[in-house]
Order: sequence, then structure tokens, then C-alpha cells
Amino acid sequence: MIDLRSDTVTQPTEAMRDAIIAAPVGDDVYGDDPSVNELERRTAEVLGKEAAVYMPTGTMTNQLAVRSHTEPGDTVLVGPGAHLWFGEAGAPSPVSGVVVQPLAGTRGVYDAATLRDALPLGEPYRPARWSGPVRLLCAENTVNAAGGTIWPLETQREILDVAREAGIPTHLDGARLWHASAATGIAEAEYAAGFDTVSVCFSKALGAPVGSALAGPAELIERARRFKQLYGGGFRQAGMMAAGALYALREHRGRLTEDHRRARFLAEGLASRARIDIDLDSVQTNIVRFGLRDGGAPTFVDRCAEGGVALLASDRSRIRAVPHLQTTDADIEQALEVMSEALG
Ligand SMILES: Cc1ncc(COP(=O)(O)O)c(C=O)c1O
Repeated sequence: MIDLRSDTVTQPTEAMRDAIIAAPVGDDVYGDDPSVNELERRTAEVLGKEAAVYMPTGTMTNQLAVRSHTEPGDTVLVGPGAHLWFGEAGAPSPVSGVVVQPLAGTRGVYDAATLRDALPLGEPYRPARWSGPVRLLCAENTVNAAGGTIWPLETQREILDVAREAGIPTHLDGARLWHASAATGIAEAEYAAGFDTVSVCFSKALGAPVGSALAGPAELIERARRFKQLYGGGFRQAGMMAAGALYALREHRGRLTEDHRRARFLAEGLASRARIDIDLDSVQTNIVRFGLRDGGAPTFVDRCAEGGVALLASDRSRIRAVPHLQTTDADIEQALEVMSEALG
């Protein structure tokens, strides 16, 4: 099966498995797992933040960032289609008790004017106690739901300026921030600058089997550590997993442009088909999102699976394909053939 459902389906390479086997481990709950500590130190360094905490999933790093920044009843502003809003099992409500307010934008990116308009007018026009105070602004880079799109650095800086002026803390869901940096050459720390906290994933295109990290100011990361423990995320000899993440951080960031090239090739191949609706400008990194003009995404996906290509139907008419660590050029050519046949 050529599995293009997600970059989360990657398998650890032999060299990564060797690094995992050789990892020195301790008890992470006591803070003495050397591999976890090294991963946290290195992640904070790459993101230009004071501290970082390793957790099992990106859902946990995002949701505990929200929990650490807010109190129940607060409002959290997010971008259109934000993963932490619609893709994490409805967590913001039960975990943090917050109200999530999505902002409109293009290809997952909203601008400073939209943000300014969304902020409550305040006294004397609107009593502050009417709505839950806006206590967190979130952005996602790259934007999964929009097709792995990259935030222009300038737009990002403008929204951060508005947030700073309004005294609102900020969180970046950088699950795939590595891709933005690989595609533009702008360092992760530069994208992360200005955000209070940043969540990054090792278990997606970087190819590690498990884990994400939340980076930010030491005091806030300490608060996140408490919530990590509270929600059962203290995972003892986690160094076994952290070693895979460390390996991925060191060895796999440099190869992400290969995924981008393959995604582009796939997207351009699809664009020539009349039944396919694809915005080639949205294919900026490793994710290809496209639609079927006449619907029928689940049937199309089932037919492709019969032909040996696994894709993800995101709704009745839209589909996602993601080349990754184990995808070759020949796989993409084969996938295009299978998809052509499935289109009829
Ligand atoms: C943008 C984004 N953020 C967060 C997550 C959550 O990561 P995890 O699957 O590790 O919980 C995902 C997962 O696909 C994602 O795409």
C-alpha cells in the first residue's frame, strides 16, 4: 500500500531505531531522563525559547498550552480551520473551559485588520464583563486544513503586534513549522519569535514515532508540566521515544523539501484532470488537498485503496494526500495512475 493519508504514518528508519535502542533513559516524572532533558534543551534552542516540555502528542501540547494561558470562561481566538479547535476531539471546552472564536482568513492565514475587528470594543461601548475576555490568540504554521500553507512572516508580525498592543498572549501551533522553515529558509526561531508559546511535533514528517514539545517562558512551561502530570502525561522512561525525536530533529529536517517536491508533482499531475478541483497556490509544503467537482470523495478514496493507494477523505468532496519519509518518486507516479483510473 502506498500510504498518503498523512505524514503521521511514517515508520522509524533503521538508524532512528538504533538511536532509540541506545538511548540513555531515566524517569521523566522525576526529571532525570537524560534523553528527554536533551530533547527539551535542544527544542528550546531551535525555537529560541527559554524552556520546553516533551509530551506524547501535539494535541496535548496544544491543549495544555491553552490550559496554561487561560482560565475557564476565557475566549481563545484561532485561525480558520485551526487544528486545536476542530481537530482535537473538542478538547478546548472540556480541558480548559474556554470559548473558541475562529477568525476568517485566506488559506488559513488571517490578517491584523481581521484580528483588530474581532477584539471587543471595551468600555464605555461594551462592558468588559459581557463576554469572556480574549486571553489567547493562536495561529497555525503551516496550516494543515488549508493544505500546509505558510504564514508570510510579515503578516505574522502584524498580528503579533496587534496582540501585544492588546495585551493578549499568543500561541503558535507549529506542528509542521519545520516545513515552513524548509520551504522559505526562515529559521524556526524567527517564526517563533513574538509568540509566547510554540508547539512542535516530531511524529509527523520528521518521522519520529512519538511526541511533541511545548516551548516558551520557563515559568509558563513549569505550569504546563503540572498540567502534563495532571492529565496523565508523565511517561516515565520517555527517553526511548525522545531519542527518536532527537534523531529526527537532527537528521530529518534537511530532507523535508523532498516531500514538498513530491507534493508539488502530485498536485500538478492532478490539476490536469477535469474532475479535480485544486488550488495549486495552496500546495506550498507537503500537503495536497483537492476536491472532486461532482463529490463522491469516499467512493474515490475506496477505489484508490483497492488500487493500493491510501488517501484521506476529509469530507464528501475533499481529499488529502501527503507524501512523507517513506514515499518515493515512483510511488507518486503510481499514485497518479491509480487516481486517474479511479476517476474513470
Ligand atoms: C496542525 C496540527 N496540530 C496539532 C496536531 C495534533 O498532533 P497529534 O496527532 O500528535 O495529537 C495535528 C495532527 O495532525 C496537526 O495537524
